[in-house]
Amino acid sequence: MGKKRVLSGIQPSGRLHIGNLVGALQNWVKLQDSYDCYYFIADWHALTSQYADTSRLKDYVKDVLVNCLAAGLDPEKTTIFAQSRVIEHAELHVLLSMVTPLSWLERVPTYKEKQTEVKDKDLNTYGFLGYPLLQSADILMYRAHYVPVGVDQMPHLEITREIGRRFNHFYGEVFPDPEGLLTEFPKVVGTDGRKMSKTYDNCIFLSDTPAEVEKKIRTMTTDPQRIKRTDKGDPDLSPVYHLHKIFSSKEEQGEVAEGCRTAGIGCIDCKKVLIKNLFEVLEPLWERRRHYLDRPDELEDIIESGSAKARTAAAATMQLVRKAIGLDRLR
Ligand code: TRP
Repeated sequence: MGKKRVLSGIQPSGRLHIGNLVGALQNWVKLQDSYDCYYFIADWHALTSQYADTSRLKDYVKDVLVNCLAAGLDPEKTTIFAQSRVIEHAELHVLLSMVTPLSWLERVPTYKEKQTEVKDKDLNTYGFLGYPLLQSADILMYRAHYVPVGVDQMPHLEITREIGRRFNHFYGEVFPDPEGLLTEFPKVVGTDGRKMSKTYDNCIFLSDTPAEVEKKIRTMTTDPQRIKRTDKGDPDLSPVYHLHKIFSSKEEQGEVAEGCRTAGIGCIDCKKVLIKNLFEVLEPLWERRRHYLDRPDELEDIIESGSAKARTAAAATMQLVRKAIGLDRLR
């Protein structure tokens, strides 16, 4: 029996950080042995909000690709591609747009939220309204069974299922219902204790040098009430402890928590443990990053051969779609 198909995408809208690593990439890597995985760089999605300045787009696409490979995605097992290199996504998007009620797009929570939240960009565009529909095309195109994403993406999955069903209702069974695979990790906090996000300038980037990572941890906020070394602290109020829970062993978590509560250790000691553990995760990744960054031709070959495989899969779906609608050959 063939493996079930998994599909997910990531936007090249900035450099990837350790939140993307534990929230998405590590999970993608875990799935690659058990499923037929398609992972892609959603460059058109990045354009829906970053259309006015594309000067860094290519750098970000490269950063995503390098980090996917550095995190352990294996192009021999997994199809890694760029959305814009599989133009079938645009065709499916336009065909799905015919059956998509405007109100369905307008009521997607991220639509209004982002429009009010993002002040420095004009998101009153056709492309931005169509964001979830483009995502539906991405997912339905590969007739994916599972879509690993964070909770924030669940509304997009919901509308994908609704659109798939509506298509099937008009034209016959073409698309299976995709299911979300919720990523188990909570949001990773940034160096200031808020959610790690490029808009808050609190990220530890996968492209940071070891010295930069170390400095960011050393200057990170801790329990704000623990001012002097002799003050007792509450680990649960410290973003450093939050990162320990992700990167340190249970035993070390217990040790630093106890040391914090009793003022047995200082914040610098606690941070040193975190730095050691974080480096253990990042060092192999840094090494693979260097490998790929030194070989731009290899990167281009990987993304292009992945995109060629994706085009083959997409072309097969589009044949079914065109036939179902009546857009296939006259005879
Ligand atoms: N919207 C997703 C995000 O911001 C990225 C994305 C685009 C995606 N197309 C997708 C995720 C298809 C899963 C499947 O994270």
